[in-house]
Amino acid sequence: MANPSLLILAGDGIGPEVMDEVKRIIGWFGDKRDLTFDVSEDLVGGAAYDAHGVPLHDDTMAKAQDVDAVLLGAVGGPKYDDLDFSVKPERGLLRLRKEMDLFANLRPAQCFDALADFSSLKKDVVAGLDIMIVRELTSGVYFGEPRGIHIEDNMRVGINTQRYTEAEIERAARAAFDLAMKRNKKVCSMEKANVMESGILWRDVVTEVHADYPEVELSHMYADNGAMQLVRAPKQFDVILTDNLFGDILSDCAAMLTGSLGMLPSASLGLPMANGRPKAMYEPVHGSAPDIAGQGKANPIACILSFAMALRYSFDEGSEADRLEAAIEKVLADGARTADLMGPEGGTPLSTTQMGDAILAALD
Ligand code: NAI
Ligand code: MG
Repeated sequence: MANPSLLILAGDGIGPEVMDEVKRIIGWFGDKRDLTFDVSEDLVGGAAYDAHGVPLHDDTMAKAQDVDAVLLGAVGGPKYDDLDFSVKPERGLLRLRKEMDLFANLRPAQCFDALADFSSLKKDVVAGLDIMIVRELTSGVYFGEPRGIHIEDNMRVGINTQRYTEAEIERAARAAFDLAMKRNKKVCSMEKANVMESGILWRDVVTEVHADYPEVELSHMYADNGAMQLVRAPKQFDVILTDNLFGDILSDCAAMLTGSLGMLPSASLGLPMANGRPKAMYEPVHGSAPDIAGQGKANPIACILSFAMALRYSFDEGSEADRLEAAIEKVLADGARTADLMGPEGGTPLSTTQMGDAILAALD
């Protein structure tokens, strides 16, 4: 059988720095676990703009459609801030998400014991936390028509429309239930069915899809209550399913329960491909961090955990992902810290490469 294929788009700023560590990890899996990937690399964001005048070349887009998974670093930077909107680095990312039709955005919020002190919440509220937010990513109020700003009765009016078809809700719900089957078989769906018709439809369709997943426990919650519960008692949740807008906010909120931006991975999944796996792109939540780029200070863990998600959802049933996550857990428990993970007590932080070294040593 052919090796699984991976397209690496490292991007800008710290993107290539953290991706260098991921490449070493990928090499380790080939050497030590007989899990060899056909890796190709290409440009995205500002790097693609510099080379081609566009943030994503058509050839790169075609490659992305053709591989088993895309691994992306980060895009953007001050150098590109004044570019026309149509060629901004972020547009490369948006094009990938849109053309690959990546409708389910998975954002885990997981608290590593060694970092529980980093949370803004009490340690016992977050210790052991491991939840997953599934955010619908390609529809809802960010895309609905009509939209725009126009004049009505001599006054400016701004319009965005929350619009969901049942097909869009159904496929996001299936992604959440499928995921729940691999976790603790619990889904909480969040909308505002009390004040929004799209929320009523959301609740109805999720309930209908649930009939195909009798083993999963389904609950519904208004999204505002969901926000409260997330900071009050986050461990009551396992998988949270929600729409694009609420998911944007709730996933940022949940993620911050657990510490640094340098630790947060994500996956964006689409429809199943011929191999039965979903079309997929994996990327850290953080951006290109121009303030620390080129200094070897970036924490590579968010990007490495994104690769762990790729192992889990695109390549393996999860045991190799467990292995990688356990190695990260171990180095953190042993006290390995990049600068973003240093408390006020100080000490000498590890560089990006040294953190990669530590994780490779723990894997061995
Ligand atoms: P950012 O996530 O790049 O940085 C925010 C803060 O977190 C900075 O102080 C940075 O040093 C720190 N940080 C981020 N990742 C880190 C890591 N791995 N290790 C240690 N510290 C880390 O967000 P910001 O500053 O708002 O945006 C910078 C650029 O990145 C902009 O051009 C923005 O458009 C772009 N961006 C790109 C994203 C993407 O590619 N998905 C997402 C967010 C922003
Ligand atoms: Mg957000």
